[in-house]
Amino acid sequence: MTNGQINNSGSSTSPGGPVLVTGASGFIGGCIVRLLQERGNNVRAMCRPSSNRSHLPPETEWVTGDIRDRDDVCRAVEGCAGVYHCAGFVGPTHYRLSDFEEINVSGTRNVMRASAEAGVTRVVHTSSIAAIGGGDGQLVDESISDQNLMRGYALSKRKSETVALESNNHGLQVVVINPGVVYGPRDRYFGRLIEMHIKGRLKLIAFAQRSLCLAYVDDVASAHIAAMERGESGQRYIVASPAVTLGGFLRTLSSVSGVRPPLWTVPDVVGKAAFALAWGTSPVTRFRPPLRMSELSGPGPAYDGSKAERELGVTYTPLREGLTRTVEWMRSR
Ligand SMILES: NC(=O)c1ccc[n+]([C@@H]2O[C@H](COP(=O)([O-])OP(=O)(O)OC[C@H]3O[C@@H](n4cnc5c(N)ncnc54)[C@H](OP(=O)(O)O)[C@@H]3O)[C@@H](O)[C@H]2O)c1
Repeated sequence: MTNGQINNSGSSTSPGGPVLVTGASGFIGGCIVRLLQERGNNVRAMCRPSSNRSHLPPETEWVTGDIRDRDDVCRAVEGCAGVYHCAGFVGPTHYRLSDFEEINVSGTRNVMRASAEAGVTRVVHTSSIAAIGGGDGQLVDESISDQNLMRGYALSKRKSETVALESNNHGLQVVVINPGVVYGPRDRYFGRLIEMHIKGRLKLIAFAQRSLCLAYVDDVASAHIAAMERGESGQRYIVASPAVTLGGFLRTLSSVSGVRPPLWTVPDVVGKAAFALAWGTSPVTRFRPPLRMSELSGPGPAYDGSKAERELGVTYTPLREGLTRTVEWMRSR
């Protein structure tokens, strides 16, 4: 697997200087910083002035700024050997589309341009399986680009990935990582479902047969580091464990946590009615349901994370082990 060193002898990164991690206050960016620090790499961590930095050691080199501001980004990348661009706006139910455009798309453009201008050799860009999309029941690999992505988060991740890959032609090597749904200690999104379950608040579920493509956060961070060292530039790599159903996931979680599984499984027709109501009232509630009605009929797509295993040396943490560490962390807080 990766040892987190930046390869100074080959063509993959320029020598000297720290590596910058944008979004270092976040779930995935914070894990990348921690793994790089454990490996003894020289890391510069970027976050906003308001960000929580308490998860990283006090000796961490921080640079503050907003990725929407070109000057902030230029200052952050100055002198860096490589950049992990992990900052992003994650809000699949967020209503205002312009926030996705400004942070995910324009912010990525700023990072790519500033990196090229500063002579950074290699950028690893954090994309998502949401940027790939895929049809119902399809096993999706890196060759697929669904042309029918939902506006909002998914479309902004596709656009930012396109900006990143187009920058690969301008003296910069760009590698893209497409994680599945990431879980683990410090998760602020999917972790809410796990937390509800271990607190005994998850009483019912719907869409129990829908597929979930999860990725444990340390695997995602390790994949980023391996991509910096030996990922092929201009390529994307899906990082996702084999799919499980939502029902199967909850059974494993129950067995790990010792908390009973939800008592009721609601028929899909009831789940669909709830989604229809949420879509109908969306302009008033300003809540954007994460899936379209047309996406609710079948199991959804599954994602093939084997290229990252073969080419980046990723070894996927078994779900039971990842959930054990996550539940332990949640209970220790
Ligand atoms: N979580 C997942 O399941 C998942 C799956 C696939 C892909 N991804 C992608 O992975 C990346 C990181 O996601 P995450 O789960 O780690 O989310 P997160 O915990 O919300 O982290 C996002 C990071 O971006 C920073 N950020 C947001 N807006 C910014 C701005 N305008 N300027 C500078 N920094 C800004 C945040 O700063 P603050 O701390 O100040 O908010 C935070 O450090 C995102 O690009 C996301 O699309 C996530």
